Amino acid sequence: MFCTRASSCVIYTARYTALRNMHVAVIGAGVIGLSTALCIHEQYHRIVKPLKIEVYADKFTPLTTSDGAAGLWQPYLYDNGNTQETKWNKETFDFLLKYVHSEDAQDMGIFLQSGYNLLSEPAPEPSWRDIVLGFRHLTPEELKLFPGYSYGWFNTALMIEGKNYLPWLTKCLTNRGIQFIKKRIENFGELTARGADIIINCTGIRSGELQPDPELKPGRGQILKVHAPWMKHFILTHNLKTGVYTTPYIIPGSQSVTLGGIYQLGNWSEENNSEDHKWIWEECCKLVPSLKNATIVHDWTGLRPARSKVRLERESFVSGSLKGELIHNYGHGGYGLTIHWGCALEAARLFGQIIAEKKLGTPQSSL
Ligand code: FAD
Ligand code: BEZ
Repeated sequence: MFCTRASSCVIYTARYTALRNMHVAVIGAGVIGLSTALCIHEQYHRIVKPLKIEVYADKFTPLTTSDGAAGLWQPYLYDNGNTQETKWNKETFDFLLKYVHSEDAQDMGIFLQSGYNLLSEPAPEPSWRDIVLGFRHLTPEELKLFPGYSYGWFNTALMIEGKNYLPWLTKCLTNRGIQFIKKRIENFGELTARGADIIINCTGIRSGELQPDPELKPGRGQILKVHAPWMKHFILTHNLKTGVYTTPYIIPGSQSVTLGGIYQLGNWSEENNSEDHKWIWEECCKLVPSLKNATIVHDWTGLRPARSKVRLERESFVSGSLKGELIHNYGHGGYGLTIHWGCALEAARLFGQIIAEKKLGTPQSSL
């Protein structure tokens, strides 16, 4: 498996001869920080020796946004020309699919999950139609199951449950000797002063605290976890006419069913709200009346790091007399679990560029 037999899934972009020690500081221990740390270690630990990677965060699993997310692999319906993100989504789907029936699948919190996307009028097929398995249009018989919806699709996708996946990533990293440091980082220079050559910024919605980013906004979400073991399919609804993102959804997980659909752009509140609770419960019960027999387990509120697109790029900076290299990897909105591995691969590629430029290693050949 990835964790134990690391050599089996190496994707080298280049080979290096000259080796030098290197210190990498990843800020953030959500799905983005942990997967980026793993991907960089996987691709470069044989090339840069020693490769010291530290993960700094003030919140670790189970307290990150990534832990609370419903965990369905599904991007937004349309990529609006951002084919790079569609590629990263596909890389993530394909990566997870390889493990979905492996011995590690349960520890990873991944499993196949099928379900419905419902609309009230015809719409173009989504950008991810060729990524998921068995994408097809709903039959009239199926549409009768969902009064008020006249159009939709069915497909098989994946669940990636953060509450399992993050501990699994953490275990992989720990086995590889990566250090975890509980600390709130105030500025990037702090880490350069601690000896970091390259900093990877995976701070999600709080990235603006380290460097202002007017594009980054909270997309507040609230969900209910309910006990309803008879629910076996995900049901996501969409309202393309109004463009309102708050629409009901039902997503069965391994332990409970997630009811949701709240999306409030610009709202920083991390408190559960009783009106939102009522709205979710009523709308989901309207969609599937058998849910009235479900037991509510708890509410959870989290902030999606909303941005027009993921910020995944390099930046050089100077802090006092020290120079630093940054790789930003944040702004994954409501699809961080869906896109994380493709983004980790891209961050690792940027990391390779930096070490090549610094002549920390000399690229030899592509494999
Ligand atoms: P986070 O998980 O928030 O992690 C950020 C990390 O950075 C934390 O460790 C934090 O402590 C650390 N940090 C930040 N600033 C600092 C600092 N200054 N110093 C030290 N540490 C710092 N996505 C899906 O793909 N599928 C879903 O089904 C899904 N459902 C969702 C449902 C809801 C209700 C919500 C709110 C989101 C959902 N998402 C879903 C989106 C997903 O949760 C996010 O895209 C993802 O969690 C972002 O991951 P991240 O690692 O960037 O951020
Ligand atoms: C969300 O609430 O952000 C979400 C729900 C289902 C799939 C993906 C994201």
